[in-house]
Amino acid sequence: MKRIRTSALATAAGLALASNAIAQAPAATPSVPEALAPAKVSLLERPQPNIDTLADDDYGRLARRGHELATRTFAHIGPEVKDKTKRYAGNNLSCTSCHQESATKPFAIPWVGVTSTFPQYRGREDALSTVEERVNGCMERSMNGRALPLDSPEMKAFVTYIHFLSRGIPVGAEIEGSATKAVKVPNRRADLAAGQAVFQAQCQVCHGENGEGRRVGVAGDAQGYIFPPLWGPDTFNNGAGMNRILTAVRFIKHNMPQGVNYQSPVLSDDEAFDVAGYILSKARPVKANLEKDFPARWNKPIDAAFPPYVDGAPADQHKYGPFPPLAEKAREMAAKHAESLKEGKAQPAAR
Ligand code: HEC
Ligand code: HEC
Repeated sequence: MKRIRTSALATAAGLALASNAIAQAPAATPSVPEALAPAKVSLLERPQPNIDTLADDDYGRLARRGHELATRTFAHIGPEVKDKTKRYAGNNLSCTSCHQESATKPFAIPWVGVTSTFPQYRGREDALSTVEERVNGCMERSMNGRALPLDSPEMKAFVTYIHFLSRGIPVGAEIEGSATKAVKVPNRRADLAAGQAVFQAQCQVCHGENGEGRRVGVAGDAQGYIFPPLWGPDTFNNGAGMNRILTAVRFIKHNMPQGVNYQSPVLSDDEAFDVAGYILSKARPVKANLEKDFPARWNKPIDAAFPPYVDGAPADQHKYGPFPPLAEKAREMAAKHAESLKEGKAQPAAR
């Protein structure tokens, strides 16, 4: 089965690197009757779902609560809220610091359709993952915090808001505009000095000289940021998706400086790559036990810049590139894995 959300590794010529280096090992694909084949949906032309259209009933109230939690995360489950038992997030970002426009913006990792595409195989766990587990993935990494209990009112609200955003999208659909849009990554190491120059010219005015962002009020008031921090103690940790340069470059190119979208990028591929490298070269919170991520080592993304490295390439290359040679190696490892599956030597990935 083709996995559009995580596939599309660089072709030898194209070098359009996907943020998730490798998809699941190809399994024998039974032929699917046409009527049961996955529907194709594009978010690019589709009107964005609007929470204001919902009735004031149980569903509407819970979806609105989820919207509020997503856009003002810091005020409800952030590290500065009064009720200590509710301090689930470890930083003062909001979910929508990255999932822009209330998690509806195409190629800014929208949640539109997430309910229709989970459960989903995730290489990070080498297992099927539910929507709830995916939310907690971001809680523990992007939000540098701890998992929400599955039966908590906050988790129910997130899941309901995501469900609302996904209405009308058939289960199993292939969705254009989800995740982030590909970038042609240059075949070289990211140039951190050039990245610093891009940062100073294009980013610093909002995100601050030291990437510290700009608060609404003062530290401790649980009111979050006008412009979120990009590095330092109050942002995503080193286990987050945004800490992988091939994800960051795609997000930045099509969404930053604030105001651009996939149709109106301002940065060139080279500039986006270098500034992503510069941001990720700075200190940020550290997640424990990262070596447990991607237990099926053959599908560890090439830009996951933490050990173990199983392809013999140095840590620096996994962090800053050049990536095309790593993509080539990863393809070989995936092919080998597929081969050993056929011969019955390896267990298929959990599904
Ligand atoms: C620092 C940026 C950042 C923040 C903040 C963030 N996320 Fe994410 N999120 C990501 C990235 C990057 C991905 C995609 C990673 C990948 O698979 O490449 C993602 C993926 C997701 C997905 C799956 C989307 C899909 O298309 O499959 C969900 C659901 C999600 N996040 C929920 C949340 C929730 C809930 C919060 C707040 C509690 C949150 N995220 C905060 C960066 C962020
Ligand atoms: C005009 C102000 C502005 C400029 C300039 C700007 N940003 Fe942002 N940035 C934002 C805002 C606001 C957000 C939060 C998302 C939202 O509200 O839509 C954000 C979010 C981000 C995020 C994800 C959240 C986080 O804290 O990590 C990254 C990464 C990012 N910006 C990188 C950049 C880079 C790189 C540049 C320069 C190329 C840049 N930004 C320029 C305003 C700006």
